[in-house]
Amino acid sequence: MTKETPAPEKTFTLKNDQTGEEWQLPVVEGTYGPHCIDIRKLYGQTGHFTLDPSFTATGSCKSKITYIDGDEGVLMHRGYDIKELAADSTYLETCYLLLYGELPNKKELKEFTAHITNHTMVHEQIKSIYQGFRRDAHPMAIMCGVVGAMSAFYHDSLDIWDPEQRRISAHRLIAKIPTLAAMAMKYSKGQPYVYPRNDLNYTENFLHMCFSVPAEEYKLRPPVVKAMERILILHADHEQNASTSTVRLAGSSLANPMACIASGITSLWGPSHGGANQAVLEMLDQIGHKDNIPEFLERAKDKSDPFKLMGFGHRVYKNFDPRAAVMKESCDEVLAELGIDDPQLELAMELEKIALNDPYFIDRKLFPNVDFYSGIILKAMGFPTEMFTVLFAVSRTVGWISQWKEMMEEPSIKIGRPRQLYTGAPSRPYVPIEKRK
Ligand code: ACO
Repeated sequence: MTKETPAPEKTFTLKNDQTGEEWQLPVVEGTYGPHCIDIRKLYGQTGHFTLDPSFTATGSCKSKITYIDGDEGVLMHRGYDIKELAADSTYLETCYLLLYGELPNKKELKEFTAHITNHTMVHEQIKSIYQGFRRDAHPMAIMCGVVGAMSAFYHDSLDIWDPEQRRISAHRLIAKIPTLAAMAMKYSKGQPYVYPRNDLNYTENFLHMCFSVPAEEYKLRPPVVKAMERILILHADHEQNASTSTVRLAGSSLANPMACIASGITSLWGPSHGGANQAVLEMLDQIGHKDNIPEFLERAKDKSDPFKLMGFGHRVYKNFDPRAAVMKESCDEVLAELGIDDPQLELAMELEKIALNDPYFIDRKLFPNVDFYSGIILKAMGFPTEMFTVLFAVSRTVGWISQWKEMMEEPSIKIGRPRQLYTGAPSRPYVPIEKRK
């Protein structure tokens, strides 16, 4: 368990060594974690900005949703440990917790579930947007488009200043994202779309929409449903990562929630973030055989080679990723249930073992992250590799929309606008083209 933060200092003294001037900056404390120096008045007082590319030391907001202690391998949502949620909660219950701050009682959960279930269908005309994409379009490209396009279909819930409309938008997004994702998968396979079934729960319905065909219903196997549920819970939120920060930044300009979530999807797509689960499988293909592991490990260590061990390392977790432990357990269960004896999995396990014993990875605290295992599970379930990041987007939608909702509920919202250190050419006169060399 994470230790309590000690009593905070009230101010932080900043001193200019050249002039001897001193400034007192307020120190802000949270429930846990390092205290923050509030630098909002820094420029006004000192004439200096701070420089923190990639935000390695900068808090962009206060949030009550998720807490991570990367050194201790702790992840909590609203104070509840992710391991307990993965073991005992359901995805929809976790959604309610993230959105509304408390676990729901029976009545609240029933109402919330009914509301989400009633919103699972999408406007029939949305189908025609899919037809505009090439069949070989990456499903994340489709998702960027269709989720943004939802703004054009649900005008009645786009008033960002109306709490009820914000609530409806949040529920619509959580309810419809699996339908849109399953449609993207069906489109790329050339199969007919499968409509949602309200007699199934959220996760069962998602698997049904992805894998049923008119000729044959998908057989729901409890261990597979459980693993999918866990994947959804484990990816539901992760505080101010790249995609969530993107959603907040887009939202700070007062863009509508559908547009904000579409921006989160674009940010998630990259292989350093949500695209890593797809990249893990592609890397395993590239390695091919366990005899080739040493060669690829050497490449991963070589700074002149862009190759990285996908599914290893994390900006925040420098001990272990608590989600990875749960995922590994699910991985074993799913593979046993489906009777899959996959050489790629054997390769993955061998890679994990060798990398975990290598001084390069030990010294840099590079451990397998959640995506290392989720990719393997999703493959075993029958998802095409291109769908892996889409599944991440499905589960993260609740995190994005909860963070957006939290931001919108703040008493005042200010547009996000980082500063920069200009390092370009100094001022110079315009040169007519005839005089240029
Ligand atoms: N393979 C090889 N070396 C690595 C890896 C890796 N996967 N990850 C980090 N390193 C090295 C870096 O080169 C650096 O080495 P140096 O100190 O000798 O220069 C050191 O470890 C520290 O790494 P940083 O780059 O400072 O770590 P950062 O926090 O910037 O990056 C990231 C984190 C992007 C996740 C990185 O570890 C990575 O690219 N991993 C592979 C992609 C991946 O799995 N992403 C999924 C993240 S989890 C998620 O989104 C759910």
